[in-house]
Amino acid sequence: RAEGDPLITEIQDWNRYLGEGVQARPYGTPSQFESHVVRRDVEWLTASTESSVNFTPLHELDGIITPNGLCFERHHGGIAEINPADHRLMINGLVDRQMVFTMEDLMRFPRENRVYFLECAANSGMEWRGAQLNGCQYTHGMIHCVVYTGVPLKLILEEAGLKTNAKWLMPEGADASAMTRSVPMEKALDDCLVAFKMNGEALRPEQGYPLRLVVPGWEGNMWVKWLRRIEVGDEPWHHREETSKYTDLLETGKARRFTWVMDPKSVITSPSPQAPVRHGKGPMVISGVAWSGNGRITRVDVSIDGGRNWQTARIDGPSLPKAMHRFYLDIDWDGSDLLLQSRAMDENGYFQPTKNELRAARGENSIYHNNSIQTWYVQADGTVENVEVG
Ligand code: MTE
Repeated sequence: RAEGDPLITEIQDWNRYLGEGVQARPYGTPSQFESHVVRRDVEWLTASTESSVNFTPLHELDGIITPNGLCFERHHGGIAEINPADHRLMINGLVDRQMVFTMEDLMRFPRENRVYFLECAANSGMEWRGAQLNGCQYTHGMIHCVVYTGVPLKLILEEAGLKTNAKWLMPEGADASAMTRSVPMEKALDDCLVAFKMNGEALRPEQGYPLRLVVPGWEGNMWVKWLRRIEVGDEPWHHREETSKYTDLLETGKARRFTWVMDPKSVITSPSPQAPVRHGKGPMVISGVAWSGNGRITRVDVSIDGGRNWQTARIDGPSLPKAMHRFYLDIDWDGSDLLLQSRAMDENGYFQPTKNELRAARGENSIYHNNSIQTWYVQADGTVENVEVG
């Protein structure tokens, strides 16, 4: 810094005057200088805001946990505002005892804390046919990762008692869309949670307050918010959200029946179009996130030349199954153009495909489950653009 920098030589206001007292912000909010760190939507994407989506500002975040106020929102009928005293969870269908639980009843079951990512199946959907949206907030921001506190769904089902032909569940939301999906029983008994807290505090209304289903590693649409009922059946229901929507249309015109697991995926969050390089050549921190619905991420490679050469990045912070992972590659930038890419591998040995590999396997009709490699073009002046390499 220049000699005589007034920020060093002059006494600043925040040093001269007392600040606000302890109770000025009883529920804290971020610094006024962080006001640009917000969820954003894409206005032309949907006809109404009630059935719409906004995006997590991934380019502003670090570590693996998404702050509650920045978790992307996807609603089909707006945000239901439910007083927990008026909320009920009903279990019906192929059970020994049909049951209705209040929130207080649910608080008396043993709880667990687990960190999971939730990714909407439509994340990166707009990028299938070519590079479109300029920023990882828009291309990859339909994801969040928080620590959930909840009751294993298995315990609630056991309380009701499952009939021998109980093979499927249909969770239902209490919102105006009354969202329903079919969930196979093995998944429900394996690791699903009925959650009431995220990152230690009550679920936010946007995320399904007071109760949501957590379906680890599986597409976000199944994580029914404002969960009010679970019907137990012997076959899937094939409702709207698993037939006309959230299925993958192949080149042949046939659609895949169910695609539940979110395969491994990663994206460089900085530098990226909304997080350009503001320094000259020399040390540069390349940072990003990776996740897999199959389990842990075991390796992330980064390329600075559009996929010709790869270097293994450093994964830092907790490496938890079905949770976000943070990676870094610290380089010495020579100031020339870069074509940045990342590719993640999970514990099954599955590597993220290139866009062309994905199209070869799945055609170009699809929207959902695009886990292909993203490319950012970093120019010498530090600006960054969303591009595709052949
Ligand atoms: N549950 C209800 N009841 N209503 C909804 O509209 N949207 C689903 C799912 N659960 C939805 C819902 C979809 S498509 C996704 S991707 C996730 O919730 C989004 O969760 P989020 O808003 O916490 O990000």
